[in-house]
Amino acid sequence: MSENEARLRADLTLTRRRNLTDQRGFTLWFTGLSGAGKTAIAKEVEKELHNRGLKVERLDGDIVRQSLTRDLGFSKEDRDRNIERVTFVAKLLTRNGVAVICSFISPYRERRAKSRAEIGEFIEAYVECPLDVLVERDVKGLYKKALAGEIQNFTGVSDPYEPPENPAIVCHTAEETLAESTAKVISYLEENGYIPVP
Ligand code: ADX
Repeated sequence: MSENEARLRADLTLTRRRNLTDQRGFTLWFTGLSGAGKTAIAKEVEKELHNRGLKVERLDGDIVRQSLTRDLGFSKEDRDRNIERVTFVAKLLTRNGVAVICSFISPYRERRAKSRAEIGEFIEAYVECPLDVLVERDVKGLYKKALAGEIQNFTGVSDPYEPPENPAIVCHTAEETLAESTAKVISYLEENGYIPVP
């Protein structure tokens, strides 16, 4: 084998090894009503991926709306703009091999489809919880206000929510524990080659 050939082979092996060990970028997208548990599951998944040594970034509606999209409200146009901007960020991170975890109500099916098309490696996770359970729980006290008419255009009460038709993952948070929902998500990521199986 010539020196040149040997070097070429070594390079190839290196490339192959990189492909095997390099983290695969993806965006895990949680959609669902306010208070359904999107943030809670997203945080647990983030913790698990972080513990496994993976690069991870979490983008959450309540946080992003204090910075990147603080100028936006809750009309359909503004919600779509909110998701459009977040999608742009998620796309950049995803193509750089980061595990991106997004949690947004993201109520419109068409807008989510656009995000999927733009990001490519996009996993839709539907965090499902019946409205009566959410009203009963009312962690942030927003449903009470929405039902009293003190908040306009509140998703699920006075504004639409279009559930995913074919989500990759569904978490039923009225029936599952947080640990069960999290395990479901992690299993999906492992089984579909998004993250290595430890
Ligand atoms: S989205 O519709 O644009 O995807 P996003 O997930 O960023 O929404 O923000 C939702 C959060 O904003 C809710 O969890 C709640 O705390 C707060 N919020 C305030 N007003 C509303 C409203 N009218 N509808 C829904 N959520 C609201």
